[in-house]
Amino acid sequence: MRNVLIVGIGAGNPEHMTVQAINALNKASVLFIPTKGDAKAQLADIRREIVSRYVTRPHSRVVEFKVPVRQVADRSYHRSVDDWHAAIATAYERLLVEELDDNQTGAFLVWGDPMLYDSTIRIIERVRALATVAFDYSVVPGITSIQALAASHRIPLNLVGKPVEITTGRRLAESFPQKSETAVVMLDGEQAFMKIDDPEARIYWGAYLGTEQEIVISGRLADVKDDILKTRAAARAQHGWIMDIYLLQKGADFEE
Ligand SMILES: C[S@@+](CC[C@H](N)C(=O)[O-])C[C@H]1O[C@@H](n2cnc3c(N)ncnc32)[C@H](O)[C@@H]1O
Repeated sequence: MRNVLIVGIGAGNPEHMTVQAINALNKASVLFIPTKGDAKAQLADIRREIVSRYVTRPHSRVVEFKVPVRQVADRSYHRSVDDWHAAIATAYERLLVEELDDNQTGAFLVWGDPMLYDSTIRIIERVRALATVAFDYSVVPGITSIQALAASHRIPLNLVGKPVEITTGRRLAESFPQKSETAVVMLDGEQAFMKIDDPEARIYWGAYLGTEQEIVISGRLADVKDDILKTRAAARAQHGWIMDIYLLQKGADFEE
């Protein structure tokens, strides 16, 4: 039976690779690298670098595949994501059938950790449900962008004994500060922090974490938000793409 490894590769620094992830890549005959067009070419480059640094197994092959683009016109957000996952499942199914022999192992190199705002596991389950190609799979964890953010700012994620919410820019307004005193915000294309008006809020922001372009800014949200907005826009214009994440927090350790 074919075997699939879903391998977390860390969030941008090739040194995020764990020994388990390196060993997993070396078990695979085929290494699948997703490409997302010119703007995000650097993400594929980092995966290629990981393969060239760590894969020592002779005769393994790299297979690059274009990730289908999510269509947003004339449909709800949920419909759009469901259609997109279906299109990616079809692409994965084809890769497994065409690129792997019956008893071979293929590895998907997944950004950060596969459990965090990533649908590779969901999509692989979808391919299994199609029942057109028999395979088993396992997951190898990786360092997430949340860990990279906390490390770069030298902060613990939670206040003592308090919870943390992980959310998206689209949903931030539902959470912080009324529901959660600590919120990690990912996938924020709208700079939702600009709409938080709380004099006590602090922000720890990071872009391109783990890469040579890494930028971090922190401080009282009211004091630094304009700087983050400007810095983000300039970096995006310079590099043609951006990935950023931030932690919003109010309150203090040992405070009820
Ligand atoms: C589709 S999610 C994937 C998350 C990934 N699975 C992880 O474990 O971090 C992409 C989001 O992760 C965050 N992200 C991932 N890598 C990042 C990095 N190197 N620097 C800043 N943010 C990053 C950004 O919020 C980005 O919008």
